[in-house]
Amino acid sequence: MLEEADRYIAENASKTDPMYRGEYHFTPPIGWINDPNGFTYFRGEYHIFYQFNPYGSTNAAPMFWGHAKSKDLIRWTHLPVALAPDRSYDADGCWSGSAIVVGERLYLFYTGHYDRDGVRVQTQNMAYSDDGIHFTKYENNPVIGPEQLPEGTSAADFRDPYVWEQDGKYYMLIGTMETGAAKVQLYESDDLFGWRYKSDFLRSEEAGYCWECPNYVDFEEAELFAFSAVVFPAGDYAFHNYNSSVYALGEFDRESGTMQAGPFLEMDAGLDFYAEQILDRGEQKIMTAWMNMWGRSYVTSQLGHGWSGSLVLPRLLSVKDGTLLQKPVPTIAEYYKNEVRIEDRLSGTKEYEGVSGSVVHLKVTADVSASDVFTVSVFCADGVHTDITYDKTKGTISFDRSKSGIAVSYEPRERSKARVRTMPYAPENDTLVLEIFLDRSSAEVFLGEGELTMTSLSYNPVGADGIHFSSVGETALVIEKQDIIVG
Ligand code: FRU
Repeated sequence: MLEEADRYIAENASKTDPMYRGEYHFTPPIGWINDPNGFTYFRGEYHIFYQFNPYGSTNAAPMFWGHAKSKDLIRWTHLPVALAPDRSYDADGCWSGSAIVVGERLYLFYTGHYDRDGVRVQTQNMAYSDDGIHFTKYENNPVIGPEQLPEGTSAADFRDPYVWEQDGKYYMLIGTMETGAAKVQLYESDDLFGWRYKSDFLRSEEAGYCWECPNYVDFEEAELFAFSAVVFPAGDYAFHNYNSSVYALGEFDRESGTMQAGPFLEMDAGLDFYAEQILDRGEQKIMTAWMNMWGRSYVTSQLGHGWSGSLVLPRLLSVKDGTLLQKPVPTIAEYYKNEVRIEDRLSGTKEYEGVSGSVVHLKVTADVSASDVFTVSVFCADGVHTDITYDKTKGTISFDRSKSGIAVSYEPRERSKARVRTMPYAPENDTLVLEIFLDRSSAEVFLGEGELTMTSLSYNPVGADGIHFSSVGETALVIEKQDIIVG
């Protein structure tokens, strides 16, 4: 199955339509992707795996694990498909999971998903590799099956193992649910092969009905628990998408195997961010995620472009004074070209010479002490625009793609209607700092020091590369813009 998939990809990848493909965001050679998996660093290179249907641009097929590597997290090289759904325990999909390097060996842990006679079972499985390219599934898979589930826990929703090592012991988090509660379970191992159920790591009756894709990271200042929640309850502003990426800072008590953490916060307040995975390299904690969302229409798939899905620009995470900060990985700056710098005092609406493009980095520093509302509109052309607006009178920042070229459909309960997200925001000293990364059909917005991010797709006609600025009152502006050319 692996060879057949690789052959199919080699023969057909050039037939995909690149119109909406990001230049510097990871996209599949062909077919559908959702979650990033097995994000790791092995023998001097980053490796990313991903949920992959090579044969169609929807997820209506058993998932493979696609695979790519990179030296700098920007320029990726596709590798042969790593895992195929070719065993009885993963026949309906090799679902999400993580990687760990021990000695010279790269281990993958993933969920085997199968559905027989209407009974759906998910188990945890392992595969390993010594060259980082070819993987062998462990002969005694699954390493965790339904018999290792505590009473009342769902065997049908039991997935996405996240494995790490701490003080000589291996830990695994698995997302799951029980009637009326979502939770993540903790397992322990001394050798990666035998696993013991330890505890409910964290459990909540008020935080969605199932948790997927758990992550745990130890920052010096705090420990972080992140997960992707199916139908997380909406707040006044946060959690307005169908599903949500959630995190909480706190403390992991290894004796009891429980995490004390809270409050639950949204990892990214845009429209398209889910199933994040965090790679802990000691000093560097790097996060990637699926730049999309369940419950929506998938535009490139519908247009017949032969591919769907991409990953966010990887981000460095840190914790400062109790706040999680996200920054784009610094290697992206090596691809900045054609810098333009503008200073202005703006009232009304304006475009600036040299400030345009749909594959750009834009840094806007705006003194809003004498203005009420300030907007940066991107992907502009006749009648279309996507707006990032700071409204001082309301104390909010919003991302609005309701005037983009193609509307995305959404689940009825979705408060954002897949169009607008708004969050409370007050920049320090009335100085708004916006870093915006545009990449053909996506915009990632980092605010301030990275205390808030908003990531969204936006599909527009060819040539929608205008960038407009507008201010109600006078905004003192510094604009720095570069093209991003990966080549
Ligand atoms: C999250 C998710 C995971 C699952 C995978 C299947 O987006 O639903 O829980 O393992 O996608 O592709």
